[in-house]
Amino acid sequence: MTTTIFDFIGDQSGEWKVTLTATLKGDPISSVSHLTKVSSNLIQTEKGIWTLKGIVSNLRYTEKKDKDKLVSIQENLGRPNATLAAFIPIRKSEAWWNLAQDERRKIMENKSQHTHTGMKYLPAIARKLFHSRDIGEPFNFLTWFKYAPGDADAFEELLYTLRKTEEWTYVDREIDIRLKKK
Ligand code: HEM
Repeated sequence: MTTTIFDFIGDQSGEWKVTLTATLKGDPISSVSHLTKVSSNLIQTEKGIWTLKGIVSNLRYTEKKDKDKLVSIQENLGRPNATLAAFIPIRKSEAWWNLAQDERRKIMENKSQHTHTGMKYLPAIARKLFHSRDIGEPFNFLTWFKYAPGDADAFEELLYTLRKTEEWTYVDREIDIRLKKK
């Protein structure tokens, strides 16, 4: 069976070395020097200095045309030259979660053009989204990206664009953790 549950463990040693931690909104988390991503299960065990758990879930907002396009152009995470990574846990506000599904989709895709913007950065930026809200975690989403050093500027540009959108006005906690392969 393919694993769908992962723990991201922040600690003093591990797979990825933390190069920068920035609390962009909301409460910070304890600073760590390393991060490790491991397949896991739903049992809550605190490993390292902190453990954040996320689940690979179904798509909520993506329509078939975009889904087919994403599948055809996105890269998987395993490329050897992708020596840089970003781990960005995000929480959205109660106001967001009180919206209906169609209202959320309208904000994300029509007004904020999240997928449209993101697709311009594929396949250079490999991405994976983990959901955490339904398992009582402090964040709603754990986002994980891998890229080669040559694509670092493009990644900054993507973040800059997304963070200016209406969708991001609903983000009430965001920690940006940058990493490099040891
Ligand atoms: C969700 C595409 C970059 C944060 C999504 C979804 C798509 C997508 C298609 C919707 C999934 C669904 O239907 O449920 C992309 C592409 C990117 C990209 C192609 C290019 C690399 C980013 C970045 C961030 C981000 C840089 C933030 C740091 C999120 C979050 C969600 C999401 C938090 C979940 C939103 C929600 O369900 O409310 N992305 N994305 N994405 N993305 Fe991105």
